[in-house]
Amino acid sequence: MRFVDIIEKKKENQVLTDEEIQFFIDGVTNNTIPDYQISALLMAIVFNGMNEHETAKLAQAMRDSGDVIDLSSIEGVKADKHSTGGVGDKTSLALTAMVAACGLKVAKMSGRGLGHTGGTLDKLESIEGMRIDLTDQEFKKQVNEIGLAIIGQTGDLVPADKKLYALRDVTATVDSIPLIASSIMSKKLASGSDTILLDVKYGEGAFMHRVEDAKRLAKAMIAIGKKLGKDTRAMISDMNQPLGNTIGNALEVREAVETVQGHGPEDFTELCLKAGEIMLMQGKLAKDEKQARSMLEEVIRNGKAFEKLCQMVSYQGGKVEQIKNTKLLPQAKYKTIMLSREEGYIKELKALELGILAMELGAGRATVDDNINYAVGLELKAKKGMKIKKSDEICIVYHDSPLTDQWKEKFYKAFIFSDKKVPKTPIVEDILS
Ligand code: URA
Repeated sequence: MRFVDIIEKKKENQVLTDEEIQFFIDGVTNNTIPDYQISALLMAIVFNGMNEHETAKLAQAMRDSGDVIDLSSIEGVKADKHSTGGVGDKTSLALTAMVAACGLKVAKMSGRGLGHTGGTLDKLESIEGMRIDLTDQEFKKQVNEIGLAIIGQTGDLVPADKKLYALRDVTATVDSIPLIASSIMSKKLASGSDTILLDVKYGEGAFMHRVEDAKRLAKAMIAIGKKLGKDTRAMISDMNQPLGNTIGNALEVREAVETVQGHGPEDFTELCLKAGEIMLMQGKLAKDEKQARSMLEEVIRNGKAFEKLCQMVSYQGGKVEQIKNTKLLPQAKYKTIMLSREEGYIKELKALELGILAMELGAGRATVDDNINYAVGLELKAKKGMKIKKSDEICIVYHDSPLTDQWKEKFYKAFIFSDKKVPKTPIVEDILS
């Protein structure tokens, strides 16, 4: 087989065979195809796409390019969830504790944050002593014993994706549904869970800006999951404003704790409950949404969800006192209350800008090598639809160095006001399966 013929075929908008796709991924993994040829094929895929079968074959070949985690020694249905990333997205922390308290097994591998989006591992590491590098054996033992573990990636999962993603990043070939879907799903499939719930975000702070594109991506990923034998479902959720009220690692841990205790922000609580309903149905622990919701509400009410979170933190070496009393989490040196300069209804809260502003305080990484300041971030006091008067508190900024005038100007530009009432939009726009 000659790789140039495969590039030519995709350039001519023809369908690639399974053998050709396997040849491509083998060549990427073994470094036998030069980067310029890989990049040419990627660009041809961006322009001409791939059908469902090609996309599933691509995901499967990528999954098999490295280790595939075997979770069969863990009893019961193992559930996983994945978010396409957003600002203030602490869902994994709260949701996994809720569903695990209902009896679901969650053996989750998470990632770190980059740019305006945060990462679950960084949030967890704001708890002193928290280990995210459990051995394979420790990981499985913990899930068998308490039903929940969240760790960093182990083994050599999907090396083909690492290579492809790095190339896509520098060749303007990221924004292609088959490439994104196969990239995300290959990693989820290699992580070994039985069920996958995808939280596909749309909006200004998300990867997909338009709801229709988020749905197209979700459908492509569901099709891959189905073809490869996994119960895969998706929710389409709103990222036109940050999720919940906090952005920043320790602040988000605090909010996740409040949410599993039943006094979290409305939008974040609703997202966790909707996601939990789907996961409990996927795990066959609930027959419908109604039953699942009452199970979730019960574990929040009776404290079992919070207990599960404490148990996970304790098993992974974290200081549980910081969860029981969140004032013991890292605290920033300064706290500045931002007052509104305008009045009216909040029409937009620019998630992307607020994510970048939090990153600039030190809450996130501009490059992979940057260190994180766990204590800093934003606590929003105003969200979309709220009526605000001049000088009302709209945010508390937690910071370790003085806020510059430039930072403050950018901050105020993230709040867009309207003099007309702004209707609230549902946090979960649709559920697809
Ligand atoms: N996230 C991934 O893991 N892969 C993509 O291609 C895009 C987002």
